[in-house]
Amino acid sequence: MSRSLRLGVNIDHVATLRNARGSAYPSPLRAAELAQAAGADGITAHLREDRRHIRDADIAALKAGLEIPLNFEMAPTDEMARIALETAPHACCLVPERREEVTTEGGLDVLADQARLTDYVGTLAETGIRVSMFIGHDPRQIEASAAIGAQVVELHTGRYCDLHAEGRFAERDLELDALRAGAAYAQSLGLEVHAGHGLTYETVGPVAAIAKLRELNIGHFLISEAVFLGLGPAIGQMRALMDAAR
Ligand code: PXP
Repeated sequence: MSRSLRLGVNIDHVATLRNARGSAYPSPLRAAELAQAAGADGITAHLREDRRHIRDADIAALKAGLEIPLNFEMAPTDEMARIALETAPHACCLVPERREEVTTEGGLDVLADQARLTDYVGTLAETGIRVSMFIGHDPRQIEASAAIGAQVVELHTGRYCDLHAEGRFAERDLELDALRAGAAYAQSLGLEVHAGHGLTYETVGPVAAIAKLRELNIGHFLISEAVFLGLGPAIGQMRALMDAAR
């Protein structure tokens, strides 16, 4: 189904739970199939350099087993380009990666690496993969993303969510304004605009209300909520909040 705001469900932390005990369960593919049945528009999985959650075999299983698009999140390294070209996912989202971080802490510095990223994005895009850059709302990063030939930018909502959690509401609202302006600017440059990171039931509404956005990618909160509600109902509630905000 084509919707005005798609929901991509990130299933990385199903793999985190599996890897915590070195067991074969819970299965990321099974979670992705449930998410698909619950109305997810796509599945996102991040193959990190250290394989702390998703592993190579998960990516292959997701690609083979899913009907909805696979968004392969990865650092722009040679190793990941090789795996992406072998896998041929619907989309690749390029993210910065630092081994010591708990999660993807900031956006990619596209501006600082434009020449290399132009070739990198070109190689993926040539094979029909839709390439997205995970960036902050800085207009210079948005311009650089357009200049290197990316089709999509995903705006990092982590700071907005952190400010909300810390009760710093005036700063949170300024951050939301900046995300809104960034989305409008990116769209004016011909980019499709996505957003994600740290979103919860409490924070999703104002982001989903940004009319220029076409997709939200949400993971950790949904997998956490699934412990209590089950994955299908957790996704259903998020979907309802997104729809109510549009
Ligand atoms: N989008 C990108 C590019 C990400 O790196 C992540 C985290 O892996 C997400 C969305 C989802 O963030 P969260 O798991 O906090 O919902």
